[in-house]
Amino acid sequence: MAREQWGTKLGFMLAAMGSAVGLGNIWRFSFVAGNNGGGAFLILYLLFVLLIGVPLLLTEVSIGRKAQSDVVGSFQKLAPKTPWYLTGFFGIASAFLILGFYAVVAGWAIFYFWNYINGSFFTSPEVGYEGAFGQFISHSWHPIAWTALFMILTIVIVLSGVKKGIEAANKIFMPLLAIILIGLAFFSLSLEGASEGLKFLFQPDWTAFSNPSIYIAALGQAFFSLSLGMGAMLTYGSYLKKENKLPSATLGIGIMDTFFAIISGVVIFPAVFAFGIDPSSGPPLVFITLPSIFEQMPFGGIIGLVFFFALILASLSSSVSILEVPTAYFMRAFGWTRFATSVLVGSIMFVLGIGVSLGFGLWSGVTPIGDLNILDSMDYIASNILLPLGGLSMALLVGWYFKKSEALEATDMKKGLLGNVWFTIVKFIAPVMIILIFLNQIGVISL
Ligand code: TRP
Repeated sequence: MAREQWGTKLGFMLAAMGSAVGLGNIWRFSFVAGNNGGGAFLILYLLFVLLIGVPLLLTEVSIGRKAQSDVVGSFQKLAPKTPWYLTGFFGIASAFLILGFYAVVAGWAIFYFWNYINGSFFTSPEVGYEGAFGQFISHSWHPIAWTALFMILTIVIVLSGVKKGIEAANKIFMPLLAIILIGLAFFSLSLEGASEGLKFLFQPDWTAFSNPSIYIAALGQAFFSLSLGMGAMLTYGSYLKKENKLPSATLGIGIMDTFFAIISGVVIFPAVFAFGIDPSSGPPLVFITLPSIFEQMPFGGIIGLVFFFALILASLSSSVSILEVPTAYFMRAFGWTRFATSVLVGSIMFVLGIGVSLGFGLWSGVTPIGDLNILDSMDYIASNILLPLGGLSMALLVGWYFKKSEALEATDMKKGLLGNVWFTIVKFIAPVMIILIFLNQIGVISL
């Protein structure tokens, strides 16, 4: 059977942007920035996106397009008879871990959407938004039911082939999400005490740089937000024809993704300070601030409704790209149908999601890593360890295993300055930085 392909280059662009823009930009970005001191984190994050993220994005997509295979198969094809393909399994593992918690958080978003449909979040519930959220996520099965719904939607899209539904939906909902976020940013800026939030986000506290964990946090966020290191972009790249030019496409994805992150920071942090919320409240952060903003706004109920709808779609376009990674692998490696594979893989991820969800209630004492709960632990392993390792492996493949001419040809880069800069980054700078950040994190060296 012939491998599937994108209809158009625009289709690929939209799908890749849809993959990049999601809960990572709004939910994860705000709480990771909030936990890591705001401004200092933002600087490192931007630096990593530009210096490591975008060049590696180009690298990752080009590997898939050249090999025309999934994350394991691509390594097998391009570096035959080497153990390189084993790193492909980091990607498969991170897909299970990430979608395991992503579906839970997206389920929360669907619950919020539902509460705006029936009007119950138009005004603050008796226990307040924070209290209502706390009650909801600690319930034994309510959040799990919403997770199941989200997982079903993801599976349905993946099993019908990515093209039709997701491409079309993204065309409408990404611009819509952007417009709503920009509007919200202006409103948030008009709140009393907004300037404190802006200071937090844009004025770095230089002492924060002495904390090693801020580097790994910024690197992990750059990878997560750009959908990098798992093989999602690699798999999407494998559905591309050779004629499409990659460098401009990947730069566009990087810019879009960064725009969504910064603009949601401008929405969230002024509100965080205006409503006296602790910026380091962790994963619940946006689920407490956003409804508080909506409540203050004229027509806030409607805006909340549309916002959460757009957020759900942004999450769906990301979650399908995650489910697609193991689906593409198992389909090829075991000859299973797309239908059976996506249902099976998605169901296993859902089971992981049950554990994540219980981590906020029944199992709230379970802390697999340090004092991190189940969600944060899975996120830490996947985003801060497996994704950077996956990215490192891809950089080493293209930088050291390929000849330079081969690498330039694979990425549609020309020999000139830009090509040299990109190749130097992929061959030396990105690997060295990733390794240094790891060593720094485990305390071997201190930056
Ligand atoms: N980038 C997405 C977001 O910001 C999440 C995501 C989709 C992802 N595919 C990925 C993260 C692959 C890591 C790897 O919400």
